[in-house]
Amino acid sequence: MSLYLARADRVVIAADLSRSSLLLGAAAARRFGIGHVQFVETNLHRSALKSSAFDVVYSSVVLHHTSNPRAAFVEVARLARPGGIVIVGVYNAVARIPLRVRRQVARATHLRIVPFDPVLRERRHEPDRRTAWLRDQYQHPEEHSHTVAEIKRWFTPLLEEAEHMAAGINGGVRFTAEDAERGDVDFVIDFVAREVREYAGEKVRYRFRTRRAYLEKLVAEHEIDWVNSLFLSCRFSAQRIGPYNEFIYAFFKCLSEERLNYAEGWYTEQNATEAAEMIELDGWLVQRRCAHLKADLSRFGRVEDGVLTCQMHGWMWRLADGKCLTSVGHDLRCRPAARSRTPAE
Ligand code: FES
Repeated sequence: MSLYLARADRVVIAADLSRSSLLLGAAAARRFGIGHVQFVETNLHRSALKSSAFDVVYSSVVLHHTSNPRAAFVEVARLARPGGIVIVGVYNAVARIPLRVRRQVARATHLRIVPFDPVLRERRHEPDRRTAWLRDQYQHPEEHSHTVAEIKRWFTPLLEEAEHMAAGINGGVRFTAEDAERGDVDFVIDFVAREVREYAGEKVRYRFRTRRAYLEKLVAEHEIDWVNSLFLSCRFSAQRIGPYNEFIYAFFKCLSEERLNYAEGWYTEQNATEAAEMIELDGWLVQRRCAHLKADLSRFGRVEDGVLTCQMHGWMWRLADGKCLTSVGHDLRCRPAARSRTPAE
């Protein structure tokens, strides 16, 4: 690709971790007389390339071969100048199915048989490029797929905040994402321990099954409403012991802090004692739930110069009188912490 791009009137920097791949590229550039390309050996995570230095950054089928694709993307994006273009190519789960079949055969036969690979056929008279393709496609040690570790990182903070939902579910929800070729992903969302962990044979009351590719798509797209995207598509099956539990579906609809806080705030309002709860912030007592969209102010509230800001959407309140400075209405219950309670409070 670097050689192709360098045929036009532009300077191309071709960066890779693999020196042998770079040497192959450099040899091909010499062979075809292409001069506007420079080959740089560098590690994406400790790149020597300057930030904001490139008009266009093109990363082709690299990110998912790194141990942390999200962090790798940040590194790629920082190379583009403000207003520049970042183009990223990653594998498609469905398009990779034939390759995965070929790879199983190739690995089982120690690369003696690699069926139906058109690129290998095309490169049969170029041994170096043929070997490079074999290594890349059939021996690559890391091909990232989106599974439990990401779900853990995503769900754990939500589980910590999901007080009412966790109490309502009060058990484990097992999720099995099936894949006959690559193996199942089987994990439990434990609403008692508030954690996500690999399934270890324990008994759980609720269980969902779907295909691994569907789960990976939800994770890759950071889909915050699995009810809408997965459950309404009916591409799953469910089992439960006991009655229907609305809290489970509420949780899977609220997979962002914003949604989860709103739902938790709604549950709070259903109980007069909880709705009246006040918390202390920097010498002020304020209502626990934000007067905008119910974020938990013990987590999202910041006080500075007598003004409380909710970090969820940045709305502000003057603490002296509870007046909302961002919008009309939406006033906040608050008072200095030292002041004794009034009968109305
Ligand atoms: S929930 Fe929106 S500003 Fe607090």
